[in-house]
Amino acid sequence: MHNNHRSVVVLISGNGSNLQALLDFSNAGNYRISGVISNKSDAYGLQRAEQCNIPTTVVEHRRYANRDLFDKALSEAIDVYEPGLIVLAGFMRILGADFVKRYNGKILNIHPSLLPNYPGTNTHQRVLDAGEKLHGVSVHFVTEELDGGPVVAQESIAIESIDDSETLALRIHYKERILYPAVVSWFADGRLRLEANDAFLDEQLLPETGQRIPSS
Ligand code: GRF
Repeated sequence: MHNNHRSVVVLISGNGSNLQALLDFSNAGNYRISGVISNKSDAYGLQRAEQCNIPTTVVEHRRYANRDLFDKALSEAIDVYEPGLIVLAGFMRILGADFVKRYNGKILNIHPSLLPNYPGTNTHQRVLDAGEKLHGVSVHFVTEELDGGPVVAQESIAIESIDDSETLALRIHYKERILYPAVVSWFADGRLRLEANDAFLDEQLLPETGQRIPSS
């Protein structure tokens, strides 16, 4: 893994609206997207990258007999770009323990819930079904535990009576597009680090809920 914190590889599986936000912000920001990797050849995010002249790689999980082989191919594709940070942006594959160890402290993920609540998929509907009043989005370091690594930042939204899973998805996406580039910038500036299972921002241990950004 490269020590250049400012070189970022983004892993996607689909639409790539978070990727788009990271691309847009990188023009004025302090990091550079060196490459975009998708496990699906038809991910729309690949076109977004190409429009910005960012190199892309497809590593199709279906071509590999098991997770270890896929993870190995993915590592090889990543290392070509010599990134200092791997950003998961709607990347829908679970990464194995060896992969996560290899890039320890260098992988961020964005998850549409207020972690540690609601890890896993289908979060908007599950939050509604549980009658929650508050929902949100978390950026966290990736560790071996799925959606379980220390939270770096969160932003919350109040659930209104008219909300359904689609309106929540839209409202969360809007927050994601602001939150993720901000956190990637912190990392690029060397302000953010993982030590054991704790996240530090400016050498301050972050609380379980990360750096909470007030809802606006
Ligand atoms: C986002 O909601 C993100 O939180 C989740 O997957 C979705 C990706 O959307 N991990 P996009 O591909 O960035 O548009």
